[in-house]
Amino acid sequence: MNNFTFNVGTDIRFGKDRLGELAPVLTDFGKTILLVYGGGSIKKNGLYDRVLKELSDFHIIELAGVEPNPRIETVAKGAKLCAENKVDAILAVGGGSTIDCAKAVAAVYGSPKEEPWAVIEKRNYDGPALPIVTILTLAATGSEMNRGAVITNWQTNQKLGMGGKNLLPKVSFLDPQNTYSVGKYQTAAGSADIMSHLFENYFNNTPATDVQDGISEGLMRTVTKNCPIALKTPTDYDARANLMWASTLALNGLTGNGKGGAWSCHAMEHELSAFYDITHGIGLAILTPRWMHHVLNEENAPKFAQYGRNVWGITETVPMMAARMAIQKTYDYFKACGIPMTLPEVGIEDDSKFEEMAKQAVAYSAIATDAFVPLQVEDVVKIYQASMTEQSYL
Ligand code: NZQ
Ligand code: ZN
Repeated sequence: MNNFTFNVGTDIRFGKDRLGELAPVLTDFGKTILLVYGGGSIKKNGLYDRVLKELSDFHIIELAGVEPNPRIETVAKGAKLCAENKVDAILAVGGGSTIDCAKAVAAVYGSPKEEPWAVIEKRNYDGPALPIVTILTLAATGSEMNRGAVITNWQTNQKLGMGGKNLLPKVSFLDPQNTYSVGKYQTAAGSADIMSHLFENYFNNTPATDVQDGISEGLMRTVTKNCPIALKTPTDYDARANLMWASTLALNGLTGNGKGGAWSCHAMEHELSAFYDITHGIGLAILTPRWMHHVLNEENAPKFAQYGRNVWGITETVPMMAARMAIQKTYDYFKACGIPMTLPEVGIEDDSKFEEMAKQAVAYSAIATDAFVPLQVEDVVKIYQASMTEQSYL
């Protein structure tokens, strides 16, 4: 296990009906709040009204309409609103896109001499940042308890991750009831994203990481058990609660700290979203089994077999066979969740941009050198190509 620092100071307020704590939390930061939210789901499910009622004593400025795959123009608009209104803190109410947008607004506002996209392109942000409070409405990204944000620039077809310790939310409200209204597609996509965060950390070459791997396997079992329940019964509190807490723990450092290496599927997926604006978790679900199959070899088969044994209960003892069965299980599970498992099903009909996307995936990440199995441009193109058709791994 590598050396690491684990200092994730987000104050988590988990559970039912805790919005009464919102005003006291925000009062610590000030009275002028930038309220950031997405395309209207919080208005439909009543959360917007409840939040405004709690904050009747505050001066609220709104940044509405944050897009899934949030855009730099929206971030710039938010930073301008902060400057014009001398905002004290940012309250993000939504999924990962809304929270990421809030983080990027804080960073861009903290860098008044720079162009907004230049702040994102630097990837690391150490400057001052407005305090961020979140009310999570979708179990997926872990943004509610991590320091990262992912922002898209449509003019350049770039989708880049950035972050820094000052962007970590100060307080996050996690009420599973706020995810009851998440539809089947986004529930499945969010759960696939959680699984992918766990896979990215789990399939890794750092030796002796039993703690991280054991926690990851437990979280994977949690997701594969509870996602189907939430899909069938969206108001099942326990299923939503387990998915929500799994999303937070999957990407707050718990399963990744102490390990080195680059993430593979996220680097490849960010190009799918950057070129085709598809849903992040869906892109990951499509790529993951193809990636697993592409990188599988005699040396790493035991790790895939371990995943198969501890997550799927596979009892096959020949590692390569068990590994293939585990990959098939992964594919079948995503499909059973209703995820379209080929690129044409999400509107990517031809392979004309694969080479360019693969070049960017390699350029913006360390997958060519530091991944579980290093991937060159031609590997990434092959994985995209395998994603065009149905696959079978047995
Ligand atoms: O915009 P609204 O109207 O709110 O609707 C959203 C959106 O259409 C809807 N939704 C959210 N909560 C809902 C709801 N609908 C009904 N009821 C609710 N309670 O769901 C749709 C998707 O929302 P979004 O925030 O985009 O989803 P998600 O949480 O999956 O976030 C995806 C973004 O996060 C980035 C992704 O790349 C993508 O841009 N990521 C951020 C990470 C991080 N900060 O650590 C890591 C991830 O790997 C990921 O890259
Ligand atoms: Zn993700």
